[in-house]
Amino acid sequence: KMKQYVDALMAKMTQEEKIGQLNLVSVGFDVTGPVVSQGVDANIRKGNVGGVFNTYTPVAVHKLQEMAIKESRLHIPLMFGYDVIHGHRTIFPIALGLAASWDLKAIEQSARVAAEESAADGLHWVFSPMVDIARDARWGRISEGAGEDPYLGSRVAEAMVRGYQGPGNDLTKPNTVMACLKHFALYGAAEAGRDYNTTDMSRQRMYNEYLPPYRAAIEAGVGSVMSSFNDINGTPATANKWLMTDLLRKQWNFQGFVCTDYTAIPEMMEHGMGTAEQVSALALNAGIDQDMVGEEFLKYAAQNIKSGAVPAAQVDAACRRILEAKYKLGLFQDPYRNVSPERASSTLMKPEFIAAARDISRRSLVLLKNERSALPLKKTGSIALIGPLANRQRDVIGSWSGAGDWKQAVSVEQGLRAAAPSLKITYAKGSNITDDQQLIDRLQAYGGELDIDKRSPEELIKEAVQVAEKADVVVAVVGESQGMSGEAASRADIGLPGQQLALLKALKATGKPLVLVLMNGRPLAIGWENQNADAILETWFAGTQAGNAIADVLFGDYNPSGKITATFPQVVGQIPLYYNHKSTGRPYTGTKLDKYKSRYLDVSNEPLYPFGFGLSYTTFTYGKPTLSKATIGPAETLTVSVPVQNTGTMDGEEVAQLYIRDMVGSTSRPVQELKGFQKVMLKKGENKTLTFRLAPDDLKFYNNDLKFVAEPGDFQVMVGGNSRDVQLVPFKLTAK
Ligand code: IFM
Repeated sequence: KMKQYVDALMAKMTQEEKIGQLNLVSVGFDVTGPVVSQGVDANIRKGNVGGVFNTYTPVAVHKLQEMAIKESRLHIPLMFGYDVIHGHRTIFPIALGLAASWDLKAIEQSARVAAEESAADGLHWVFSPMVDIARDARWGRISEGAGEDPYLGSRVAEAMVRGYQGPGNDLTKPNTVMACLKHFALYGAAEAGRDYNTTDMSRQRMYNEYLPPYRAAIEAGVGSVMSSFNDINGTPATANKWLMTDLLRKQWNFQGFVCTDYTAIPEMMEHGMGTAEQVSALALNAGIDQDMVGEEFLKYAAQNIKSGAVPAAQVDAACRRILEAKYKLGLFQDPYRNVSPERASSTLMKPEFIAAARDISRRSLVLLKNERSALPLKKTGSIALIGPLANRQRDVIGSWSGAGDWKQAVSVEQGLRAAAPSLKITYAKGSNITDDQQLIDRLQAYGGELDIDKRSPEELIKEAVQVAEKADVVVAVVGESQGMSGEAASRADIGLPGQQLALLKALKATGKPLVLVLMNGRPLAIGWENQNADAILETWFAGTQAGNAIADVLFGDYNPSGKITATFPQVVGQIPLYYNHKSTGRPYTGTKLDKYKSRYLDVSNEPLYPFGFGLSYTTFTYGKPTLSKATIGPAETLTVSVPVQNTGTMDGEEVAQLYIRDMVGSTSRPVQELKGFQKVMLKKGENKTLTFRLAPDDLKFYNNDLKFVAEPGDFQVMVGGNSRDVQLVPFKLTAK
């Protein structure tokens, strides 16, 4: 039916109208790139626009849709997209925080709520999930993905697609939105962690370590893909035919459409790929279907067809894919998808969505340290609430939260006061987030008022120390402003910015118990903080309900269960640092003063906090894993059982993680690879035996010929509560 419909429509279309469908414009009350589209209304009327983004609300969408439906020759509906990344109006934790929950149901639910809200607000298409594997915390966009692991990243990618697109990917349902997988591909491997930078890697590394989450989202049925800005092994992704056609469509059988990232086509002139006309041809020939804001297809596709640089069939194929997407969304039946101001107002920020946000936020928080029983806090007595982020509503919703209303977000101070009315809370700022004027100007220009205090750093610290001295406990809320991570927000130094460390040192000197609440979009290098604070709670940017969720954890009304999904280094110079690395020929075991070993002179190889790490207010003890068999054949599934006991004094959830190591391979293999995890609730004292299954495919990898194979030989299975503290059992895989 879809084919017949699209065939009939395309038979009526001029070449110009077909090219028009390939044009995606930004109408900009939000600016998410360096330029904005011009002459949009006239282009819509002429049939020169296929999709629109950066606008929403039933009224705004209706106006433009009506223009297309009533005033363009063929009345083809527009498709409306937006950066709905971690929630639409109800904002959930940033993706790195969501992943830290290791709770796939919760993650799916966050995307479902985002779909309900954004669809009710007139949107059809969301530029999410972002599944780029990132192992470099300098890169600001590490905040937008699930972290460093391909297995976890794949499961999160699937959950997000399910949440957005709903059961069975039936996009005709008006409460669904089409997801857009981004950024294809390898964007997270940008050299030196600098945004938009070059990537260069072997195909083996791509297939084994970076591509799995993209593929998982394709297999989950994601409707669209966004090309990335970066160059890959000498060809920008947007001109990369191998990537967009051979891999994506031929090997992975992707049936949806591909749009570029913002002006990625004209940016290829800067990459040195040719003139505007040439880069337009390169993108179309590579298999790109829609041009985001560049208008390079609009300007040059016709003449490229005329000159023979682009086959007309290429434009036909791209146009067909865009029309198919509109068909799948039911836009030809109802271009307004049942949207109305009434539906929007009864959907946005519904009480159950707010409740879900609070629950998911607290699941995403990670307790990194807790000594001298610093946490949970008592709801009586007094605390000194210090720090530039303690009363910030604007920051807690994080970057890419364009439709979120920060005024409806809950700051840490608001959350603490609401949860503990009898507690005496005295606030002092203590320091600004940063004192770098250039950075302040930039952050304020793109993210709003930073509330900079004009007093000197010494005065601010002095006031905070006075407040601290009078309290039972110091709670310092420190970190980054929301604009210090996300797009174009790379940092070369990933410590606490500005005077915040000096503030903490002064607070430490008071001798009061020091609890740090961190707010940030990346792993930070916080060696001093780890040594000197009594407790550290990582809260990312936890969304609309951040303050309430943080209060729930600080007071022990919720027992923290999150675990980090990107390694925290001791110092920035260790980057890239990730758990699933290879062994060198000279591994340093840390036991001797060996000179000729793979190590630094000034810092150990260890991370500050390893992948998968996070504490609870209770303790969990793992028994020795047992295997269903010590030797398995290539088609057999191995069952791994492990007893886990809650040995502490509080009920709590644990994320049990299963890793393997392939001891000998035709190519070198990582020292550890995550292959399974379970988040389980254990009552205090409760003992449960968890069962994991390792299927034949779990032992496979892409070899030198890019064949997906399991090689007979020795393996190890490791189970534990993080990637470092594991118990190990060997097994063998036989050839038959
Ligand atoms: O979706 C984003 C992308 O992640 C970065 N560049 C702009 C796009 C649209 O706003």
